[in-house]
Amino acid sequence: MAGIEANRSRTVDSDGLVDRIGRVVGSKGLTLEPRDMEPYLTDWRRLYVGRARAVVRPASTAETAAVVALAAEARVPIVPQGGNTGMVGGSVPDNSGRQIVIALERMNRIRNLDPLNNTMTVEAGCILQQIQEAARAEGRLFPLSLGAEGRCQIGGNLSTNAGGTGVLRYGNTRELVLGIEAVLPDGRIWDGLRALRKDNTGYDLKQLFIGAEGTLGIITAAVLKLFALPEETVSAFAGFERLEDAMVLLARLRAALGETVSTFELVPRIGLELARRHIAGVADPLAQPHAQYLLIEVAGGGRGSGLRETFEAALGEALQAGLLTDAALAASTAQAQAFWRIRESLAEALALEGPTIKHDVAVPISETPAFIRRATAAVEAALPGVRTVAFGHLGDGNIHFNLSHPLGGNDAAFLARKTDLNRIVHDIVADMGGSISAEHGLGQLKRAEIALYKSPLELELMRRIKATLDPLDIMNPGKVL
Ligand code: FAD
Ligand code: MLT
Ligand code: ZN
Repeated sequence: MAGIEANRSRTVDSDGLVDRIGRVVGSKGLTLEPRDMEPYLTDWRRLYVGRARAVVRPASTAETAAVVALAAEARVPIVPQGGNTGMVGGSVPDNSGRQIVIALERMNRIRNLDPLNNTMTVEAGCILQQIQEAARAEGRLFPLSLGAEGRCQIGGNLSTNAGGTGVLRYGNTRELVLGIEAVLPDGRIWDGLRALRKDNTGYDLKQLFIGAEGTLGIITAAVLKLFALPEETVSAFAGFERLEDAMVLLARLRAALGETVSTFELVPRIGLELARRHIAGVADPLAQPHAQYLLIEVAGGGRGSGLRETFEAALGEALQAGLLTDAALAASTAQAQAFWRIRESLAEALALEGPTIKHDVAVPISETPAFIRRATAAVEAALPGVRTVAFGHLGDGNIHFNLSHPLGGNDAAFLARKTDLNRIVHDIVADMGGSISAEHGLGQLKRAEIALYKSPLELELMRRIKATLDPLDIMNPGKVL
């Protein structure tokens, strides 16, 4: 325990809580040195920099439960943290220095993979990519996929109900889970690790924890659904001019290729340009510039199924009909990866370009062109020179409506317009029956904003659920509600 002794001297531990936690998790599980805590205190977007009394990294569910029980007894707030890639500041502590961060990274075991039941049971700290690879090694697919997959953890994916690029075919994270294990705010362990496709025995409690952003408990493990690994995947990068045409194309592709259509992502010209400017190895796959691009992927039946030929023919018809202005079909895995690199680089390219005001919104899929047009006109009228970068999951109606700072303008003046620009965009979203957070959650960033757009009754029900499960308000306070 020499490590704990050394750590102990660096923190004020007048109530002995850190000492007691140290006895549970050992020196490997306790971080108190400010320099070592730093990565856990700042969010990915660098919008929030907090302070913490300790960063605790339990190695098991039992350790997590014991730490939560101790914190509850001492009335000390807890911030659960996964890969810290969240976009809304949910995973970092506030400025008080009272909160403890519980990081799940050491709980990274795959407990079980059952190929016949098509399920795997994983601990919350497993990196998403590790899960995808383990499924693939058994000839199965875990279809959740997002740009942060090399770093985000399944516990974070579950807690944010992450979306990503496969939602149009496989649904959100919520739809990919059969059971969870969670540590409740009083330290009790709820074992809901059922691997059943059918279970109508009352309220579906796991769904409360999924998307709760750590405000109702700590997810420690989950049973995930697996799918058949497609034998063949074909990727295309296509240019087009009118957003409405993309909607017609999606309908035509679905008519021709059914459920094999698994990715339908929008990249605007400015997005491609920013990726080329800031991200090494990004190139324009098409000879001429186009106003908009689509990354489309179909996945299915294998050689002999005619998937590639049917896809190629459908794209050819779209070119003839003027829905597309150019298209490249990946001839190799490397070429497909180059297409994906463009799409997956957009978040980072925007961050490198400078101050960005982000909106992660959903409208009915059919309304996405009208939304982009309306919102673009409104923000450009409000702030001439603002650069809209509307990209993302067009196939499921989720647009990342980003506003990049005007070139040559004053950054502070731009960021000072955030509330005003949020209101303009979110009011249009609300008017179109949409959501002001499609997949990133509320965290700290949209906690106040949601009060303007959710009904008082819904907010009251959410608060009552929170009060029932976490009466002491120690589980990620200041987030969501
Ligand atoms: P964290 O950021 O650590 O935490 C997120 C929230 O969950 C916090 O409120 C935290 O308290 C809580 N939490 C974490 N672990 C647990 C747990 N075990 N139990 C209880 N609560 C917990 N998101 C999408 O939905 N779709 C995308 O396409 C997408 N693309 C992205 C691309 C990039 C480049 C980046 C940086 C982010 C992207 N994101 C996307 C956002 C982010 O990756 C997701 O929200 C992801 O699910 C967060 O996982 P995490 O492990 O990093 O969670
Ligand atoms: C994405 O789809 O790339 C992400 O959700 C990230 C973002 O919105 O910036
Ligand atoms: Zn996204």
